[in-house]
Amino acid sequence: RPHGVLAGKRILVTAGGTREPLDPVRYLGNRSSGKMGYAIAEAAALRGAEVILVSGSTGLNPPRGVLVKMVETAEEMRQAVLAEYAACDVVIKAAAVADYRPKEIAEHKIKKTGETLTLVLEKNPDILRELGALKRHQILVGFAAETQDLLGNAQEKLAKKNLDMIVANDVTLPGAGFNADTNIVKLIYRDGSVEELEQMPKKRVAEIVLDRICDLLTKRG
Ligand code: PMT
Repeated sequence: RPHGVLAGKRILVTAGGTREPLDPVRYLGNRSSGKMGYAIAEAAALRGAEVILVSGSTGLNPPRGVLVKMVETAEEMRQAVLAEYAACDVVIKAAAVADYRPKEIAEHKIKKTGETLTLVLEKNPDILRELGALKRHQILVGFAAETQDLLGNAQEKLAKKNLDMIVANDVTLPGAGFNADTNIVKLIYRDGSVEELEQMPKKRVAEIVLDRICDLLTKRG
């Protein structure tokens, strides 16, 4: 029986990518496989946490001992996350959430007519920013997927979204980011300190992220 810091804690993890429908057969999506978030959910459950995994569509099997809620759009993810937030001790947002969605969803399959087709998009809610604004006792951990100025952009997200820690990955590096089995991340904290991790399996990244969350929970007392 696990008896560590996470035993009995309620942990909400998001994983995978959102899909924003265009018409009955098409959507706007992204390259997230769900591997990073599923690894965290599985590792947290093995440490005895009560884990809720809010997941976009992935090709992965649900991790053992985890309550899985499948969602499609960013708005569905938002609803699922907000419903659980108050009762959670820790939230870890590894999901890749669409920042924009089609302004209108066509009722029927869009026909191939003109030489070009223009899509109009509107902003999605920023779920993590909302969680940051509502934060009370929770430890809030975000991810940052960047293609340039990794530290600068991640530090800005940490501050704007009122996070306790952000896991930054440069998704242009081979062996890091979307769909890879490994990741290369920097862990950034509110006091400005940065911990750089070498390339390692996402399952190992998951263990280190959970170790650091344990430290934050212990410090908070
Ligand atoms: O799923 P894998 O294939 O294993 O790939 C892992 C990963 C690359 C998806 C993962 O490591 C990662 O970086 N996840 C975050 C992806 C992302 O959307 O990053 P972002 O920098 O756009 O968003 C910053 C944070 O805000 C994220 O925690 C995100 O979940 C959250 N967010 C973003 C937009 C939005 N509208 N609502 C949000 O909550």
